[in-house]
Amino acid sequence: MATNESKVAIVTGANSGIGLEVTKLLASSGFIVVMACRSLDRANQAVAAMQNETTSLKSSGSFVPMQLDLSDYDSVRKFVSEFLAKFSRLDVLINNAGYAEEFSRQQRNLNSKGTRLTIATNHLGHFLLTKMLLQTLKDTASRHGAARVLIVSSDYHTYTFRVKPLDFDDLFMEKPGAYSGSQAYKNSKAMNILHCRKLARMLEGTGVYVNALHPGFIPTTGFFRGCMRCFFICCFSGFCCCCRITRTPQEAAGHMFNIAAGVPPYEDKSGLYFYDGRSKPTSAETSLLANEDLLWEWSEAVTS
Ligand SMILES: NC(=O)c1ccc[n+]([C@@H]2O[C@H](COP(=O)([O-])OP(=O)(O)OC[C@H]3O[C@@H](n4cnc5c(N)ncnc54)[C@H](OP(=O)(O)O)[C@@H]3O)[C@@H](O)[C@H]2O)c1
Repeated sequence: MATNESKVAIVTGANSGIGLEVTKLLASSGFIVVMACRSLDRANQAVAAMQNETTSLKSSGSFVPMQLDLSDYDSVRKFVSEFLAKFSRLDVLINNAGYAEEFSRQQRNLNSKGTRLTIATNHLGHFLLTKMLLQTLKDTASRHGAARVLIVSSDYHTYTFRVKPLDFDDLFMEKPGAYSGSQAYKNSKAMNILHCRKLARMLEGTGVYVNALHPGFIPTTGFFRGCMRCFFICCFSGFCCCCRITRTPQEAAGHMFNIAAGVPPYEDKSGLYFYDGRSKPTSAETSLLANEDLLWEWSEAVTS
């Protein structure tokens, strides 16, 4: 095990989009960044590209690519045991990886083990990952002053067009007519916020701070590749809502970095949801304490 003095961060989905940008910022400020990626090849390619891009990153040697498929709970367990064999501290955990299928799709995509991809990737895999790393986060906070978790959600959790509130009797949306790609994505992003609030409450007083964030509408990441209809819906609603519709991956990553690294004024913030660096309210269903507990119990049962 490395007895490292450097701060250690894990970023899920670090090989592309905003995960890649925040990885660069963390490494530039001295973190060892564990890039937790579905494909080790894509992670290694991202490291090579980053090291070509900036000489300072080349000399830092601060990237540790590791394989993690969040839709596969065995892969999550393997990742955590390999991480704990290598590192004795965890200062920052960024639950960033995300998946969305075509919003109009009525049948869910499954992984090779039959797991439902959207809810597993966006919530359940991250739930298990965070739970298995909680003790390390708490130990790091007690030894080094603080540790932080940042969960990347989305304002899509507030949308009501053709989507229903969470049904706690059917969180996998298996009742007839309950499933659609947009319902699954909206539910998974609402789960992110309930997960954040519950963790923040549980960890009060431990020095571990937990927040969630909407990165903004960023059409230049790879996120909309399988989902053109959702891309156009977002474009249209964004166009109608405001003049400054989109954000760049660099802008989003800047806010992510500040919150995750506890840069003032974020050093003691916990249980909040941010957009553009400012905290904002969340949907009614994600503000109910009872829903936090229901989701926690269900997530534990499904992933154990
Ligand atoms: N872009 C936007 O407008 C927007 C808006 C709101 C919220 N978000 C959220 O922002 C986060 C990052 O998205 P992005 O825009 O940066 O898109 P992106 O470039 O597509 O990044 C998504 C990342 O998640 C990884 N991933 C997907 N499934 C995975 C799995 N099963 N296990 C491990 N990693 C997996 C992808 O890996 P592969 O390269 O292997 O596919 C990729 O690295 C997501 O949580 C998304 O919901 C994005």
